Amino acid sequence: MYCTKKVTEDLYWVGASDRRLALFENMYPIPRGVSYNSYVLLDEKTVLLDTVDRSVSGQFLENLEHVLAGRSLDYLIVNHMEPDHCALIADIVLRYPEVKIVGNTKTFGMIRQFFDLNVDSRAVMIKEGDTLITGKHTLFFAMIPMVHWPEAMVTYDAYDKVLFSADAFGTFGALNGNIFADEVDFENQWLEDARRYLTNIVGKYGAQVQAALKKALTLDIQMLCPLHGPVWRENLGWFIDKYQKWSTYTPEDHNVLVLYGSIYGNTENAAAVLAGKLADAGEKNIAMYDVSVTDPSYLLSEAFRCDRIIFACPTYNGGIFPKMETLLHELKAHNFQNRKVAVFDNGTWAATAGKQIREMLSQMKNMEIMEPCLSVKSALKADQLEEMDKIVEFMVR
Ligand SMILES: Cc1cc2nc3c(=O)[nH]c(=O)nc-3n(C[C@H](O)[C@H](O)[C@H](O)COP(=O)(O)O)c2cc1C
Ligand SMILES: [Fe+2]
Ligand SMILES: [Fe+2]
Repeated sequence: MYCTKKVTEDLYWVGASDRRLALFENMYPIPRGVSYNSYVLLDEKTVLLDTVDRSVSGQFLENLEHVLAGRSLDYLIVNHMEPDHCALIADIVLRYPEVKIVGNTKTFGMIRQFFDLNVDSRAVMIKEGDTLITGKHTLFFAMIPMVHWPEAMVTYDAYDKVLFSADAFGTFGALNGNIFADEVDFENQWLEDARRYLTNIVGKYGAQVQAALKKALTLDIQMLCPLHGPVWRENLGWFIDKYQKWSTYTPEDHNVLVLYGSIYGNTENAAAVLAGKLADAGEKNIAMYDVSVTDPSYLLSEAFRCDRIIFACPTYNGGIFPKMETLLHELKAHNFQNRKVAVFDNGTWAATAGKQIREMLSQMKNMEIMEPCLSVKSALKADQLEEMDKIVEFMVR
C-alpha cells in the first residue's frame, strides 16, 4: 500500500523509513532508524527530487506510482549521488523511460561510475544559478560541495519558497507518521540525533557548511525539505542556528563533559570523584561517559555540544587506552576545535597517556589545555585531591 504525504499544494513526500538497519553508512548506530526522503512536484511537468536507499525501494516505487497517478515522469533531479539517495536511478529510468535527469557535471560523472546507464541522451546539465521552469514553479540550483559529497547541490522552488536541502538539515530517526518537525518534540526527541548526524557526517566540513548556509540565507525560505528526517515549515531559524553553531565549532551548552577510559575501574573512580567535585562547585548537567561503552559517534556529538571537556585515561602498552585514542583521532579528523580541556591519566609503572593525549589535543585549533596534568598511580589517593581541585578551578573559572 502506498504511504505518501502532501507537503504543499503541489508537493508530495514519497519517501520511506528503515527501522531495521543497525549502522548507517555501516558506521553509526541508529536505534531510532532513519528515513530516506524523496519528493514529487506535480506541475505542468512532473518532477522527482532524489530517490531513496535500496532497502526501501518497494515502498518508494509504490508511493511514486500513486502520486503520479498515471502521469509520466518528466524530470529526476539528483541533488546528491550517495547511494542512500541515488540507488534507484536506473530503476526510475526503466519504469519511466522518457525521464530526463537533472544534475551538474560531477553528478553525471558519478552516475556513469555507479551505473551502466547511458545518461547522455537524457541529461539536463545545470550549474550554479541555473533554473528549470516546470509550469508555475521555477526551480533554482545551487552547489553545496562537500555537504556531504563534492557533487551535492540544493534545489530551491521559488514559487513555494521551498529549499530541497539534500543531506543538510537532515537527521537520523525514522519518520513515525508525522513528517513535519512542528508535529514532533524535536528539541527533546530529535535534536540529539540531528546533532549526531551532522557532526559525525559533515562535522569535518564546517567551512563548507558555512558556505552553504550563507547561500541559503540569501533566499526567502518557508520550508526546508531534507533527505533525512522531518520537513521544516516552522521555526526554521532555531534549527539554522544549531547548524551555525555546529559548523563553526561553537559549543551549544555551558556544560562539562567527562570522558573516561578504564580497565579495572580506578580511572572511573577518579573521574567520578572529579565529577562530584564539579557538582559541588555548582556545575549542572555534567555529562559523563565510559569510552568503552558508548559508541564514538555519541561522544563526538557530545563534544560538539559541551564547552569544556575532561579526558581521563589509563596508560596502555606505553600509549593511550585504545578506545580513547580512537575517539581522539575522530575528534581530530572532524576538525574539532575551540574547547577548554583538562586531562588526567593513570598508570601502574609508567603513566604516559596524559602527555600523549595533550599532544593530540594541541594539534587541534584553539584548545585551552590545562597544565600540568594530574597522574594517578593505579588508584586515586587522598594526597592528590588538592591537585584534583585545581582541575575543578580551571574548569569553572
Ligand atoms: C594491556 C595493558 C597495558 C598496560 N600498559 C601500561 C603501561 O604501558 N604503563 C603503565 O603505567 N600502566 C599500564 N597498564 C596498567 C594500567 O594503566 C594501570 O593499571 C591503571 O591503573 C589502570 O586503571 P583502571 O583501573 O582505570 O583500569 C596496562 C594495563 C593493561 C591491561
Ligand atoms: Fe550523504
Ligand atoms: Fe544521506
